[in-house]
Amino acid sequence: MFGIVMSERPFYLRIIKMTNLSDDDKISEKRRAIQKIEFLPTIPVMLQKIIATSYDPDSSAQDLQETIIKDQSISAAILKLANSAYYGYPRSVDDISRAIVIIGFKTVVSVAICVSVFKSLSDKFNSQEFNVEEFWKHTFAAGEAAKILVQKVDQELSSHAYIIGLLHDIGKVVLSFLNSSNFDDAVFNARALNKPLYRCEEEIFGFDHQAAGGLLGDRWQLPENIVAGIKYHHNIEACPEHLQEDAITAHAANYLAKSAKFGSSGDERLWVLHPLVKTKLNITSETVNEVKSELDKKREEINMFLESIE
Ligand SMILES: [Fe+2]
Repeated sequence: MFGIVMSERPFYLRIIKMTNLSDDDKISEKRRAIQKIEFLPTIPVMLQKIIATSYDPDSSAQDLQETIIKDQSISAAILKLANSAYYGYPRSVDDISRAIVIIGFKTVVSVAICVSVFKSLSDKFNSQEFNVEEFWKHTFAAGEAAKILVQKVDQELSSHAYIIGLLHDIGKVVLSFLNSSNFDDAVFNARALNKPLYRCEEEIFGFDHQAAGGLLGDRWQLPENIVAGIKYHHNIEACPEHLQEDAITAHAANYLAKSAKFGSSGDERLWVLHPLVKTKLNITSETVNEVKSELDKKREEINMFLESIE
């Protein structure tokens, strides 16, 4: 089935691709995707180390710092960030230990995660319809939003919240890798029809970026709570009860990054915050507003952050 709409550009008609996949088609599409995902890179070593350290009570921040500074791209990004106008340090910083003191260890870990994931996947993401840089900005903002949110509600969640926020939409990279033209059609349809992108993906691919990201999460053997954030952030009710806080964190992070208009996640419409965010995390509307304004204050830092890892 096809429909025609006017695009934003005048006199330009574009066909909306609409498919009606049967359940059998969906199963075989997903099977094909699982085979193709084997060609995506394995988990970035640095991400693996950071996750392992954060789940291991015996490992120290010192061990992690020593590992991080051995990575040239990460060290370069840390130095670039420490020398940025945002930190306003009066003299040029060329010593990595000094740079770490200036930007803080938590930010160093965030830089290490972003550089390793970005380097691993950025060349897999090609899109005519989708502004890739704006997408990375959205994901960094979601990481920050998740971190700010859980610091207010649940310290237990906080060590992984940044990763959950950062990776929640990683399935969009996977869909683009699987079939960039289909992914562009889904993005186009979402805008033209004012529908959620994940619904348009489901119509075209037979599954959405949550499922695609879940497949990458399995390939990377990510911890189940990080995978839950990826797989259920638009469908919290489907998440197993014991992982629901993680799915809610990802959902809220996405909402907050979108409502603060950081970057772009592909569809511009702001969906309502799921009521479970407030009941399960036990927060009020005031807390949500506080997180929003704290996130807004980080706008310049996030922009610098993005520049430092390019
Ligand atoms: Fe999403």
